[in-house]
Amino acid sequence: MKKEKIVSVIDDLPLWSAPFGLKLLDTIKYEENINVLDIGSGTGFPLIEVAGRLGSTCQIFGVDPWKEGVERIKEKIDKWELENIKIIFEGNAEILPFENEFFDLIISNNGINNVKDDQQVLSEISRTSKTGCQLVLTVNLPDTMIDFYNLFESVLVKNGKIEEIMFLRDHVFNKRKPIDYTKTLIEQSGFKINSVYEDSFNLKFSNGTAMFNHPLIVIAFIDEWKKIVSTRDVESIFSELEIELNNLAKASNGLSFNVPWICIDAVKT
Ligand SMILES: C[S@@+](CC[C@H](N)C(=O)[O-])C[C@H]1O[C@@H](n2cnc3c(N)ncnc32)[C@H](O)[C@@H]1O
Repeated sequence: MKKEKIVSVIDDLPLWSAPFGLKLLDTIKYEENINVLDIGSGTGFPLIEVAGRLGSTCQIFGVDPWKEGVERIKEKIDKWELENIKIIFEGNAEILPFENEFFDLIISNNGINNVKDDQQVLSEISRTSKTGCQLVLTVNLPDTMIDFYNLFESVLVKNGKIEEIMFLRDHVFNKRKPIDYTKTLIEQSGFKINSVYEDSFNLKFSNGTAMFNHPLIVIAFIDEWKKIVSTRDVESIFSELEIELNNLAKASNGLSFNVPWICIDAVKT
């Protein structure tokens, strides 16, 4: 492996993924000769790191519908010269192109809370996992950035956008399920839960303008938030929200939004 070649793909773990991901990496059992699947492998985390840690006796697979993310992973596989990553499947985890009882380890860092049909994904995880397969998932929880969502809702209330309030609440529920929901889903799919680790971190910004222009918010959040409001109201509602956030930042010496999350460690029975 040439050091000069890997410079362009080093140090690019999304910072957002790190708090969850470090715990996930710590929870995995590192064994030889195992088949591994990373669901929602994004731009290659934790897939690339896990492939490196497991080494050449293991076969690692990834699945994600994000075309540009898959292309980036392929570039990393090439630069890192990783021969144990077998297939990056550009598609949805609702239908996994793998045979029954194939995997010994299935991981997902903030992945299954982003799929369309989590029940179907868990059903596929169950089908493709061997008895004894370790399942390690991290997800963020319903109170993620709750102070931001409360402010968003208050702007909708002030503007009489009653239907949009329901859309906002649906958006939060669809992306962030309560702990018991996720635990039940996993148990009903034939897994025994060994541990649920709970933690949180704070996302901080100097003000709302910085927040709305931050790359994480731009790439992962703002388009979905804007879909909650009808096209004709987007500009006015988001200008008002930005002003409210800037006022809050002035009054509180910046913005700080808490992100609670869990890491679940389970085994197929
Ligand atoms: C929050 S990102 C996490 C990415 C990566 N695991 C990380 O830790 O940086 C969620 C990922 O799930 C992917 N995703 C969305 N729907 C999916 C589906 N149906 N099946 C698999 N992955 C999906 C998205 O494209 C995105 O890359």
